[in-house]
Amino acid sequence: MATLKFKETSPYVQRQPEAPAEDYLYKKYLQNMAAQTTSIAPDDQVFNVAIFGLGRAGTIHLEHVVSNPRTKVVYIVDDVESKWEAIKQYWRLKDVTFLTSKQSDLVFKDSRVDIIVVASPTRTHEYIITKCLEAKKAVFCEKPIAEDDRSIMKCYDIAKKVGKPLFCAFNRRFDPSFIEVRNRIQRGEVGHVHVIKTTSRDSPLPTIEYLSTSGGIFHDCMVHDIDLMTWVLGEYPQKVSVGATAHIPEIKALNDFDTVVATLYFASGTLGQIDLSRNSNYGYDMRLEVFGPKGMVDASNEQPIHSVTRQNGLEGPQKTPIWYSFPSRFKLAYVTEFELFLDVVMGKKELPIKANDFIAINKIATACEESARTGKIITLNWKKEELPL
Ligand SMILES: NC(=O)c1ccc[n+]([C@@H]2O[C@H](COP(=O)([O-])OP(=O)(O)OC[C@H]3O[C@@H](n4cnc5c(N)ncnc54)[C@H](O)[C@@H]3O)[C@@H](O)[C@H]2O)c1
Repeated sequence: MATLKFKETSPYVQRQPEAPAEDYLYKKYLQNMAAQTTSIAPDDQVFNVAIFGLGRAGTIHLEHVVSNPRTKVVYIVDDVESKWEAIKQYWRLKDVTFLTSKQSDLVFKDSRVDIIVVASPTRTHEYIITKCLEAKKAVFCEKPIAEDDRSIMKCYDIAKKVGKPLFCAFNRRFDPSFIEVRNRIQRGEVGHVHVIKTTSRDSPLPTIEYLSTSGGIFHDCMVHDIDLMTWVLGEYPQKVSVGATAHIPEIKALNDFDTVVATLYFASGTLGQIDLSRNSNYGYDMRLEVFGPKGMVDASNEQPIHSVTRQNGLEGPQKTPIWYSFPSRFKLAYVTEFELFLDVVMGKKELPIKANDFIAINKIATACEESARTGKIITLNWKKEELPL
């Protein structure tokens, strides 16, 4: 009886709490629900999409294009013809035309095609982007846009000239945890950042075939960390000092590295550290930590089925492993980046990653590689117009 005085009125007559902002899945669910009553806006056309490359990245994007109410696949370009029939059956793509890269002119010339998704090997990006933009198609391209500054600039110049978006898919910018960290840093929750650290340890180890055409660990992998770090801070480094090793003989034979530690020195005094590996045997290790005089904000690893714990013998409580690889860890980020790209194509949103951003990231990656290869600290000079807004 002692607590009877606390008895509440019926929840039906009280204000119920709304879903917290952090519940991004519920937010998406509400958006889907709202579509039932508001119907699709008249300008929401369905875009015809051609996908170049159906390997690891291309398969992730195919799933989004197939399931997105705003898009329809019309072409798939990939040279491994033996895969075509199975892909057609699995994704129910009976109306989709499959082509080899030698036949890709058909895509460029087809005026029905609105959007190209480029998920082919990096060395093919520049040619595909150029042809598609010249044919006035919007381009969603896996990072990196191209292999060197001149080619990257050329692609962005064509995009500007023809007035079509060239979207560089830096998926980590669309991860809810990383967005949350950035928002908190930008609100000043830790004050002026003293140290920012990223840990990126890849899993599983990529194949040697992939690595031999990847462009190397700096332009293939580290660009993600550089983008994440500079996007969180809103600042580019003035100097970089990098150590790199190849523990794996097959990677050493490619004149590449599998392990890198980089220190980035920012003009404001912030120090950045990137810890990178091609081969983590305990899963896809992706962490971000930002430290300042007022505290620390971090995004640690996510685990699937994290609510389950087991105990056997005297080992103590055992949790499930972290996500195994990028398709699962960044599943939502890939969906969100593609949705945003569609909004950009429709003129509803601005490109989040512009020519200057990508060129700056490439310049920092090149400086990091030079530092690793020469053992020197490399200084970066920035013109005012190159710096982030
Ligand atoms: N953002 C990310 O998380 C992420 C992850 C993986 C790869 N990537 C990027 O995606 C791109 C592809 O990497 P991947 O890991 O999917 O490689 P992959 O080797 O798994 O797949 C590449 C596919 O492209 C096909 N292909 C080869 N030449 C082609 C051409 N000229 N036209 C069309 N298709 C062609 C191949 O047959 C293969 O199926 C790379 O640029 C890479 O940097 C990004």
